[in-house]
Amino acid sequence: MNDLIKRMLLVTLSLISLFGGPVLAAEKTTSPDVAQREITQLAGADYWRQLRQGEQGYTTSSFPEHGVLISKPGETWYILKEKWMSPAGAVAIFGSLAMVIAVYFLMGPLMLSEPRTGTKIRRWSRFDRALHWSMAFTFLTLAFSGLTLVYGKHFLKPYVSSEIWGGVIYAAKQYHNYIGPIFFVLLVLMLVKWWKKSLFNKTDWVWFKKLGGMAGKYKGTHPSAGFSNAGEKLVYWLLIVVGTFAALSGLILDFPIFDQTRRDMELSNLVHMFSALVLICGFIFHIYIGLFGMEGALEGMVTGDVDETWAKQHHDLWYEEVREQEQSLDKSNIKSMEAKTDER
Ligand code: HEM
Repeated sequence: MNDLIKRMLLVTLSLISLFGGPVLAAEKTTSPDVAQREITQLAGADYWRQLRQGEQGYTTSSFPEHGVLISKPGETWYILKEKWMSPAGAVAIFGSLAMVIAVYFLMGPLMLSEPRTGTKIRRWSRFDRALHWSMAFTFLTLAFSGLTLVYGKHFLKPYVSSEIWGGVIYAAKQYHNYIGPIFFVLLVLMLVKWWKKSLFNKTDWVWFKKLGGMAGKYKGTHPSAGFSNAGEKLVYWLLIVVGTFAALSGLILDFPIFDQTRRDMELSNLVHMFSALVLICGFIFHIYIGLFGMEGALEGMVTGDVDETWAKQHHDLWYEEVREQEQSLDKSNIKSMEAKTDER
């Protein structure tokens, strides 16, 4: 009983010291040592030791873990995040950037091996393009705000005033929290809209074996591909699978109102950070190919149309399909015109 009363008193005191920050801070400015000694003496060294070990106390709050002031397993999360994942992520991002720069200088962009014919083929509808660029904008701004949250204290904080740092980090956090759910919605739309044409088939294995004709003994060849080649399908499924982990863990962190424990939040945080880093590294390669690595790809995603030569070289099976469709359309048009003439 005595022990219970002691514990209640001590948890109350420690809560006061935690939430009554300003009051204690004011006292501290006058006599910090005295206040500290008083609390320690009242509570006892044993109590503080237990508290640091994550011992549970009593509180009237019924929320999970409210009785625990110091979360001991939280230290493991902190070490995994700050000492392992954060440096490994920085190495992975700079490594990916170095790799695409090396690819650009060593292999150069993939140019069209025949002149353009000037005939355009429709590849992406207006909706497809709107979806792609909304996703690209959302993803990139989430990546930059997320990276600021993780690495800002190293590359920005030491060089700016505390007011500027406070403003930047607050803006990054708010942006990340509010825009995150939009990424999830766009991901679902991309799944619904593009899953069918991204299913792997036999042609894709040949494409993989020949490394897309980009390196090795098959360099310069154009392995067969349908609407999407195997590399593009891989990029798509990377986004869908890893993006789902990033989005769901992000939602758990964004809405801590479903009785999530500290362990749930820590795990979600690690999953979120890991999946976001994998996506960022993966999409450094995608963006390189889209912007500099392949002649004629970007104009397809900007205007919706690609040149006939580009279609033939990179997506020969799709090109044949489009041609066949056009021919059968022409034939049925001719037939219906003939039928109309006969009727007259
Ligand atoms: C400046 C940034 C970006 C550029 C220049 C770019 C460029 C492109 C281009 C040109 C294509 C069409 C390829 C083709 O017609 O075969 C494409 C497709 C695609 N993009 Fe992007 N993109 C960018 C950012 C992103 C981002 C951030 C994401 C998602 C996080 C993304 C996801 C996709 C997906 C899923 C496809 C369809 C699969 C594929 O063709 O790879 N893109 N992109």
